[in-house]
Amino acid sequence: MSSQTTTMLSARWHPPSYDIRVEDVPIPQIQDPDDAIVKVTLAGLCGSDLHIYRGQLPIDKIHITGHEFIGEVIKLGSNYGPNAAQPASGRPDLYATLNVGDKIVAPFTVNCGECHVCRLGYTGRCPAGALFGSPKLDGGQAQYVRVPKAGGTLYNLSSHTSWSSSINTPGADFENHLKGIADSSLLLLSDILPTGVFAATQLLSHPKMQPVLTGRAWPPGLYSTVANNASMLSEEDRMITIGVIGLGPVGVCATVALLDDLARRDLPYRVVAIDLNESRREKMKKVYETIHPDGKGSKGEFVVQGFEDAKATVAKWTGGVGCTSIMEVVGNNGALTSAYELVRSFGVITSVGVQPPKNVPFTGQQLYDKNISLDFGRCPVRAMFPMAFELLVRRQDVFGKVGTESSLIDRIVGLEEATEMYRAFDKGEVGKVLFDPWK
Ligand SMILES: NC(=O)c1ccc[n+]([C@@H]2O[C@H](COP(=O)([O-])OP(=O)(O)OC[C@H]3O[C@@H](n4cnc5c(N)ncnc54)[C@H](O)[C@@H]3O)[C@@H](O)[C@H]2O)c1
Ligand SMILES: [Zn+2]
Ligand SMILES: [Zn+2]
Repeated sequence: MSSQTTTMLSARWHPPSYDIRVEDVPIPQIQDPDDAIVKVTLAGLCGSDLHIYRGQLPIDKIHITGHEFIGEVIKLGSNYGPNAAQPASGRPDLYATLNVGDKIVAPFTVNCGECHVCRLGYTGRCPAGALFGSPKLDGGQAQYVRVPKAGGTLYNLSSHTSWSSSINTPGADFENHLKGIADSSLLLLSDILPTGVFAATQLLSHPKMQPVLTGRAWPPGLYSTVANNASMLSEEDRMITIGVIGLGPVGVCATVALLDDLARRDLPYRVVAIDLNESRREKMKKVYETIHPDGKGSKGEFVVQGFEDAKATVAKWTGGVGCTSIMEVVGNNGALTSAYELVRSFGVITSVGVQPPKNVPFTGQQLYDKNISLDFGRCPVRAMFPMAFELLVRRQDVFGKVGTESSLIDRIVGLEEATEMYRAFDKGEVGKVLFDPWK
């Protein structure tokens, strides 16, 4: 940044709704010693931006939009430096190792990395946290962004010593993996890919999924000696039937993560992927065709349908019993109602859709009558990041390209197009859009 430049380009939301303006605003400065200032190289447009865009949330503050970004660190607060993270301080290593010039990816929420909630892995709900692109914290659809608590929040792509996964351990050729991955692909790590992995992981790790996954009848034994755990279920009993509701970019990521997990466990499955919008269904079909067999296994059946057809499919597959579990990736009561209709008794509905400030559309009696488990909420991106990174490396067939029939990312445009891209994304006319604020 030149010393004369004091303003930058940004996309800002104006109340009450449907009003995104591309405006010059002051470049953010360090406000707290834990802050970093990042030059944004790419920012994503996400379904979560649409809830604010549509005026669905009680917000009146003009603010810079966007919570998905990657970029380069250009300034660090005074708490950074080689001596910043002595073991006794309990501070994350990144305070000592992050440098100006490092390439980073930011989770969509700030998290301190040093509190009880963060240590448990529930980083998306850190009490010191904040959501980028909200009234509380300006977002990344801009040329620069301020990152509070950056030492606990960011992932340093220039040096992977601050995080670990099975492919960035010594000798695992991490640098080569990273070299082959485009920035547009890495941007997906700030939200939608970890959120997809989170949705699939919440679903497959739920106790009610254990009978079909392990072949042992309910209840999943807390102790391995429990007698009825020894009874093996038949192949038919173990057929996993899953509905995915909502095939926007997050729904596609969740589906790819789910199929990858099932394939790696070498399990048979039936998945019905559902959206109201035909172009979203077409994209999902193309994505499925593109996934290499190692990412979808050889024992699965996969169909993409509208809701009424899906209902008939599930009834046929399960003799009227219903889906083992449902992933809801929309965030409205219509989708939750569909989830309830499709799920079996003793079923699970996991939802990552950002929900409106309304009651959910089921009575207590309806939940009782089907023994339903509900599992909702925000993705703890920082905690999911290593798994998402590994999936990104494995699934470059889907996540590596831009603008093809089967690629998740539709286009990369300049920030000047923000107003039009919000309109088109809201209407489902485009898929995942990225902004290059320097284009
Ligand atoms: N939990 C998290 O941490 C997290 C993170 C990212 C996104 N999200 C949320 O995930 C949701 C999806 O994000 P996205 O970027 O894919 O959004 P999107 O708006 O592009 O996709 C939503 C899709 O749902 C479809 N849909 C709407 N109503 C439906 C219904 N009744 N039945 C079936 N399909 C229906 C739409 O046609 C659309 O294709 C949003 O609510 C977003 O806010 C949550
Ligand atoms: Zn997002
Ligand atoms: Zn914390």
